[in-house]
Amino acid sequence: MRHLLGIEGLSLEDFETLINNSKNFVEVGQRDLKKVPTLRGRTVINMFMEPSTRTRTSFEIAGKRMSADVVNVGSSDSSAKKGETLLDTARTLQAMSPDIVVVRHSESGAAQFLAQQLKDTSIVNAGDGMHEHPTQALLDCLTISQVLPSIKGIKIAIVGDVIHSRVARSNILAHVLLGNEIHLIGPRTLVPEMLLCDKAYGKYRKQIKIYNNLKEGLRGCDIVMCLRIQMERLKGHFFSSLQEYTDIFCVSEKILKDVAPDCFVMHPGPMNRGVEITTEVADGPRSLIERQVNNGVSARMAVLFTLAAGRGTVEDFK
Ligand code: NCD
Repeated sequence: MRHLLGIEGLSLEDFETLINNSKNFVEVGQRDLKKVPTLRGRTVINMFMEPSTRTRTSFEIAGKRMSADVVNVGSSDSSAKKGETLLDTARTLQAMSPDIVVVRHSESGAAQFLAQQLKDTSIVNAGDGMHEHPTQALLDCLTISQVLPSIKGIKIAIVGDVIHSRVARSNILAHVLLGNEIHLIGPRTLVPEMLLCDKAYGKYRKQIKIYNNLKEGLRGCDIVMCLRIQMERLKGHFFSSLQEYTDIFCVSEKILKDVAPDCFVMHPGPMNRGVEITTEVADGPRSLIERQVNNGVSARMAVLFTLAAGRGTVEDFK
């Protein structure tokens, strides 16, 4: 694997290898001294041109735990603020010979573009516009594997602003690969039938069902993934008011008890508490939210390992 640009294009085998490698790195995070020499002498540049707390921090920690030299560049402290193009910024960084550039950008396709332009560097997509966020899907699947007997053969609900969510798109692609049943739930404006025309879902389309009724969609699901309403990407009228959205689609304990009593709940963060998820659910016993954040480091270690450490098994490098 040269780059990780998305879940699209990965085989089931590639994806399962990444999950298994992530599982191996979980143990490193539980040690007293959380450091391995795996990426000594390698340079990782984290280029985050959009806000991020979890993803940026966990990529930084992942690189440092593996002894890489990690440099962070953000939109407010880079020359992008002076009008430099993404390509010029990236070329400048490439001239310093990094092994990996991790990129987050508001434009869909930004990571792919850099992978085409920068010949000697591996690119990791840390979220590009409304397109993909593959490491989030990886850490989410790692998290599910820790609480359910298998990550295959499950029913997962994804609730909320699906149309604007790169987290949803990467997770949908991951769960179709795994052969799972996926329920997409939300108002018609945020979860339109048109979503099913996505070319990448292709032959797997039968695994995806759309629901405009929260209770119906949640019924019998093992995992409920809530999504943030992406205010920054809402251009137009997707619902009459936030209150109306919340009244109809907020995931609450009362509803879950009724239709999916044994389910676990996830959220990629940042959360709008009381909008897409109640505080009772977010902080309650079925919540996997903190575990997701914790797993983010292991999943990203696995990705950096796969791209930069060259051949060898995880065991050789631990
Ligand atoms: C998400 C993102 O930025 O795509 N957050 C994350 O990476 N953990 C989801 C979001 O912004 O809603």
